[in-house]
Amino acid sequence: MTVATEPFAAVDLIAAKRDKHELSDEHIDWFVDAYVRNVIAEEQMSAMAMAILLNGMSRREIVRWTNAYVNSGERMDWSRLGKATADKHSTGGVGDKITLILNPVVAACGVSVPQLSGRGLGHTGGTLDKLEAIPGWRAQLTNEEMFSVLNSVGAVICAASDTLAPADRRIYALRDVTATVESIPLISASIMSKKIAEGTGALVLDVKVGSGAFMKTVEQARELAHTMVGIGNDAGVTTRALLTAMDVPLGRTAGNALEVHEVLEVLAGGGPSDVIDLTVALAREMLDAATSQGAQPTRDPADVLNDGTAMDVWRKMISAQGGDVDAYLPLGQHSHTVVADSDGFLTRLDAFQVGVASWRLGAGRARKEDAIDMGAGVRWHAVPGEAIHAGQPLFTLHTNDEARIKNALVALSQAFSVGAADDVQQRLPLIIDRIV
Ligand code: URA
Repeated sequence: MTVATEPFAAVDLIAAKRDKHELSDEHIDWFVDAYVRNVIAEEQMSAMAMAILLNGMSRREIVRWTNAYVNSGERMDWSRLGKATADKHSTGGVGDKITLILNPVVAACGVSVPQLSGRGLGHTGGTLDKLEAIPGWRAQLTNEEMFSVLNSVGAVICAASDTLAPADRRIYALRDVTATVESIPLISASIMSKKIAEGTGALVLDVKVGSGAFMKTVEQARELAHTMVGIGNDAGVTTRALLTAMDVPLGRTAGNALEVHEVLEVLAGGGPSDVIDLTVALAREMLDAATSQGAQPTRDPADVLNDGTAMDVWRKMISAQGGDVDAYLPLGQHSHTVVADSDGFLTRLDAFQVGVASWRLGAGRARKEDAIDMGAGVRWHAVPGEAIHAGQPLFTLHTNDEARIKNALVALSQAFSVGAADDVQQRLPLIIDRIV
């Protein structure tokens, strides 16, 4: 009987990274593959993740580590569509419903959008959760179904299968419980491996900055964006990034059904200006990035929003996945309004605390397996700088579990202030920087 031998010992490679040495391509390929084959134990991958978090990785190491995740599963291929493809990834924020509008907009301009999306965890919402507020809508599609929706509608949003970057799926779960999420090399590899494996030809990253985002400072966000743009371009995906504001929540709503309502307002030609402006900016970036595949966009994003063409694509996209586009979107049966107790100006609206309030009302989950309340969430009636009168409604809370309102109000009380015009918070610009 022959015994398979491994070319390296895990402990030696962990020690190398602990001692700030670079890992070779062979080391990296083996380490990730051996982990997926269960030759490397969970505690060894945890130790490696901590060594990477503490000591970082070179650009070469990050690209190789990302490719090892991609190679752990299938890589999708949309070439038989015969059309350029582009996708967007947001690092997540509060009230971020942009994907739901953006994908039909880009498809209406002539570029296909094959999007694999995720669910929310903690105070940020997830695209699949929002779409599941629509009765009948199905997130789980086979590859053939995904192709069919993409081919007939031009845009699809669905869940990633277990065979897509499985190494990332397992390592991400480990990082979550070993305090190793906040590592730029590991975040970049995690996000980019899934987008590269998804098979998109172009990718625009919306890297959020501010209290409601993963990255709290512009410097951190810029480093993450540069790292991810480098990985994508090295892998042959035309990639660019916008750094965008998440100090104040986006639009006027957070929570699943509430956000779908807002999406419909924007697709009908109305809605909040920040949501419209960011959608149009990201759509133009996606269309421009897709020109490297020979795409010649047929329309402008602002026009397809205004004339209803994007709404037509939305209706087809939702129906193609079983969703009832005309169904009533239920709001929580209990509501509560917070009113201003003095005259003045709204001086501050904090994205993180609004996200926490929405989550406490039932819109988000604490653990992956938790159920969520589609009708839960928060609507804010003013944004920083607006004049306020005593008694004026500032927030409306919705939930199906009345007992949750008390805790949500504690978070909301820290989310805003009313004061003098001179005290209005200095806001980040909606689009802070562009990285190519
Ligand atoms: N999102 C991911 O998919 N991975 C990370 O590591 C962080 C955010």
